[in-house]
Amino acid sequence: MTTKRTDSSHRSHITISEMDLIKFIKRSWGDETFAKRLGWAIKTTIESKTYKPPLLPETAVRLSEMASRRDCDVRDVENVVKQDPIVAAHVLSVANSAFYSRRSPTRTLKAAITRLGITTVRDVAFKVVAQTQIFKVPGYVDRMRELFQAAQAAGTIAKQICRILRFESELAYLCGLLHDMGEAMVLNIITNNEPLMVDGLPPLSAVEPAVTFFHGTVGARICDLWGLPPLIVDAVRFHHQPERSANSSQMTLVVAVTDMLLKHAGIGVPPEPIEDPLEHPRFFELNLSPNQVKDLLAFAENVAESEGE
Ligand SMILES: [Fe+2]
Ligand SMILES: [Fe+2]
Repeated sequence: MTTKRTDSSHRSHITISEMDLIKFIKRSWGDETFAKRLGWAIKTTIESKTYKPPLLPETAVRLSEMASRRDCDVRDVENVVKQDPIVAAHVLSVANSAFYSRRSPTRTLKAAITRLGITTVRDVAFKVVAQTQIFKVPGYVDRMRELFQAAQAAGTIAKQICRILRFESELAYLCGLLHDMGEAMVLNIITNNEPLMVDGLPPLSAVEPAVTFFHGTVGARICDLWGLPPLIVDAVRFHHQPERSANSSQMTLVVAVTDMLLKHAGIGVPPEPIEDPLEHPRFFELNLSPNQVKDLLAFAENVAESEGE
């Protein structure tokens, strides 16, 4: 796959504050020394001028630009997609899936692109990025598989929430897909840090508190370094605390609700059904009616069931 570094002059302003570092260390009941080393390693790595996050493949970069311009020609899209055989194969397969191919099967790439539209073609390219570049950390293979499945489900659920709300956003799938990418990236930082690996790969249980605490900031920093739209960066950064977002974007709330629904249905995490969902303030914040909430809970449960098949 051809890759290129996106705008190397662009450095992200997103950092891990000293306050957050102290908060994290205080919360690490167990081994405070390990927590200090862990927190410090994550902070210094992502803030280092020489930090190189996984590369965003050129196909994804170019399709992302094309989708935001909206004046692209199907031939231009085809020229980009055909450079990347994995993405091309996925585009053809999605165009011929039950959801899109009510009519005859699509044999050419051009017809597949026309059927799907640029937004979906870009989403397919990012799904390939998620599978091949993001959720791929050696040593944590099972967790990576779970996280990738949860990421796809999150994309689908975020899109459904927007559909129900009639909130037109072509970035919904991407926000869902990428919202927890920081979990993989924190593990990626750990496995590339020699002092932390001196006794071998730390068990997931030892590093999970750091993954939970830092994944929003780390994921957002990488999305920002990749030059993705601020809406995505904000949604990734604040999906667990949408009230901390200065922009209070509706998409950040959509992703926060997506995350709740994943937990509710046990996708990527052990199931934690929402108590009194009709009274939950997050649903109110999005102005979802009781019937819409019920539909979304059922939708998430269906996604969970189809994942297990
Ligand atoms: Fe999360
Ligand atoms: Fe999540």
